[in-house]
Amino acid sequence: MTPDAAPHPATDKRFLRALGGEAVWPPPVWLMRQAGRYLPEYRETRARAGDFLELCLTPELAVEVTLQPIRRYGFDAAILFSDILVVPYGLGQKTWFEEGIGPRLEPLGSPSAVARLEPAALRERLAPVFETVRRLRRELPAETALIGFAGAPWTVASYMIEGGSSRDFQEGRRWAYGDPEGFQRLIDCLVEATADYLLAQAEAGAEALQIFDSWAGIWPDDAFRRWCLEPAARIVSRIKAVHPELPVILFPRGAGPLYREVAERSGADALSLDTTVPLDWARAELQSRLCVQGNLDPVALIVGGEALDRQARRILEAFKGGPFVFNLGHGIDKTTPPAHVERLMTLLREA
Ligand code: CP3
Repeated sequence: MTPDAAPHPATDKRFLRALGGEAVWPPPVWLMRQAGRYLPEYRETRARAGDFLELCLTPELAVEVTLQPIRRYGFDAAILFSDILVVPYGLGQKTWFEEGIGPRLEPLGSPSAVARLEPAALRERLAPVFETVRRLRRELPAETALIGFAGAPWTVASYMIEGGSSRDFQEGRRWAYGDPEGFQRLIDCLVEATADYLLAQAEAGAEALQIFDSWAGIWPDDAFRRWCLEPAARIVSRIKAVHPELPVILFPRGAGPLYREVAERSGADALSLDTTVPLDWARAELQSRLCVQGNLDPVALIVGGEALDRQARRILEAFKGGPFVFNLGHGIDKTTPPAHVERLMTLLREA
């Protein structure tokens, strides 16, 4: 670990220095889902776009909503505005977003449907996303890093199988236990497609990549290794084979004690911690190995005031002195008052 005052840092972007293992203080900060419905300016652009997928696939609008939270709060990193479900769309699965319901997909139905997915078409179908990345690199302030992202194979597969959000992921779990070879073919297809998609974002100018495994926390440990850890490690290794210096952040949400295996075996540069990861344990077992990011409870940010201050300070105290990026433990909620984010930023700048 290099000290904060390293004489020749490879980058002066605070966020990238932390991912590289430096203890940067006050810590760099960004918030998962920082562009979204809690911001009135997002709701305005969203209304102009009409359709959510249209917003993701129109570079002019996607650039605008990516920049909105940066203008307001001066976060250290911007995250490309898109969604994890553009990958099934790019593979040719019918994908749409319904107002008040969320994502909808025509369910795959059976493992044989995997053969009909079109990985060769993905780069062209998602070309607008790469154009958004290129434009963002031109328009972002010099000190702001740009994060590209994708969903992890299991989390994306869960939507492809269930046809949308799910309470208990029964269809996906039935498939994994009942036909592990068929399920493996879907996961393998997503490993390759996701690696290609992330590499294209890197070529377009993404300076760090985050892989969201939002539903990693539902599996027994052996299944977690097979369906979450191993696919993530394969994606990281494909990225590192081309761009060894490009930092990768993994978010195996809900992995509990298995976070340590992810730290040891995934090849990631940083782990994004969910709200339930104990701070002292994370400091000893994870931050000793790599950069940690997280893990403020998004509900504390909704509530604001003293409760927010207390939770934020606990996290600052736990991770001070090591490589750390301040963030939430999950995406920001749409009912969050923008003024509470302002209060959080003031507290962090004074840390
Ligand atoms: O600012 C950012 O963080 C970048 C954009 C981003 C979105 N989705 C925009 C979005 C990112 C990084 C995501 C990731 C994502 N999408 C995840 C992983 C992270 C997590 O929160 O667990 C998942 C599981 C999805 C799938 C998804 N997209 C769902 C379940 C929904 C509906 C629920 C909801 O929040 O509305 C979406 C829609 C979505 N993706 C919205 C936004 C801003 C809201 C759509 C709208 O404006 O109508």
